[in-house]
Amino acid sequence: MKLWRNALFSLFFIALALFLVACSSDSPSSTEEDKKDEPDTTAEEQDNATDEGEDKEQVTIVYARGVDTTPGTDMVIEAFEKKFPNIKIESREMPADTGQSHDQYVTAFSSQSTEIDVFNADVIWPAEFAQANYALELDRLIERDGIDMDTYFPGTVAAANFDGRQWAMPQYTDAGVFYYRTDIVETPPATWDELIEQANALKGQEGTEFGYIMQAAQYEGLITNAIEFIASYGGQVIDEDNNVVVDSPETVKAIEKMAEVVGSDFVPGNILNFQEIDTENAFVEGKSVFARNWPYMQSSSNDEEKSKIVGNVAITTLPAGDAGNAAALGGWMTMINRYSEHPDEAWEFVKFISGEEGQKITAVSGGRAPTLKALYDDAEVKEASELFANPDFAAVLESAVSRPVTPIYPVVSDVMQIEISKVLTGDQTAQEAATNMQTKIEAAMNE
Ligand code: GLC
Repeated sequence: MKLWRNALFSLFFIALALFLVACSSDSPSSTEEDKKDEPDTTAEEQDNATDEGEDKEQVTIVYARGVDTTPGTDMVIEAFEKKFPNIKIESREMPADTGQSHDQYVTAFSSQSTEIDVFNADVIWPAEFAQANYALELDRLIERDGIDMDTYFPGTVAAANFDGRQWAMPQYTDAGVFYYRTDIVETPPATWDELIEQANALKGQEGTEFGYIMQAAQYEGLITNAIEFIASYGGQVIDEDNNVVVDSPETVKAIEKMAEVVGSDFVPGNILNFQEIDTENAFVEGKSVFARNWPYMQSSSNDEEKSKIVGNVAITTLPAGDAGNAAALGGWMTMINRYSEHPDEAWEFVKFISGEEGQKITAVSGGRAPTLKALYDDAEVKEASELFANPDFAAVLESAVSRPVTPIYPVVSDVMQIEISKVLTGDQTAQEAATNMQTKIEAAMNE
């Protein structure tokens, strides 16, 4: 089986660049540790922290994060608390819909609430949150603790950098991937047209109800799916020089193809309500031949407790349009609330979850793709996932297409969500959507 076709992730992709060296997330002693006066304590023992916590004040920090259907988050918290017994993590689950989480954070942080200390941030937020002064700049801490940002994928570091400063630490990265049933499919579709053909032909086999499932609800996930269609036909929303270029024949064709898929008989009747979690539930229940989701679904697909398709799932690149295939860049980072009352402990936690130990746990137990390059050479990470073991996956991550990086991203996304949804519901043509997006996004950028 040819897992990752040597596809042409080139030209229109934003190249996320190169990699790294060794990870230096082992932090040197912090200033608090200077208080310790046992002369023969080695740095390693200090790092091991088990006895370190005893004479320290107990602190609870609140960690807000999205829904995790895997054990990854709980396990990483458990490992942290074991290592830092003086810090307790109170985990707060935010909505699965990233847009809803975003709005709740904005409400809390704009009133300078101290309730949340550390939070997970979608890759599309740092520019906005930095400009609004919601987050703590991390440069001084990164430097103090000798963290080498070159050990992370450059694209993930860049997404957390705004105005020359680092506002977040990359925690895991996402790229849209294509799942298919190996008990039904012989050769996965190379193009969107082949997908349409195969989904029509194979739907119904092995108890499936649908040929393809994706995220078509009116929310942020729709934009990631749309970006994949648009880029695969050679279109862009905003170009490298910050020009709005969404009204192009390429984008129109892409949206038409997306509407053809969404309007077909092989998707669920309620596809316009589908988010990631609906996709995951239907897929692991064995209801669909093909699915688009993020890498984490490999974990649930192979989880004996919830999946009916264990052993019958493979992953490959999304189908291609006229210009090749494209994966949208997603992913999450950790940020510290600027008004946190426990910034030192918050930083300790951020360092842990974004460091090698934390990322390894979320990769192995949560199916999340590490942002630290070195972990792709780690035997346990490779063993946990066929995807992470495949060297071409790193290439997918590097060439994944970013959503526009701008502090007004929420406005851009809202415009796109509204305009594209209207095409999917048959209320306007793809050309009308492209024209409207062009005008509205330009206006927003010029404000
Ligand atoms: C995933 C991605 C995130 C994206 C979201 C859309 O969580 O990591 O970047 O915005 O899906 O639903």
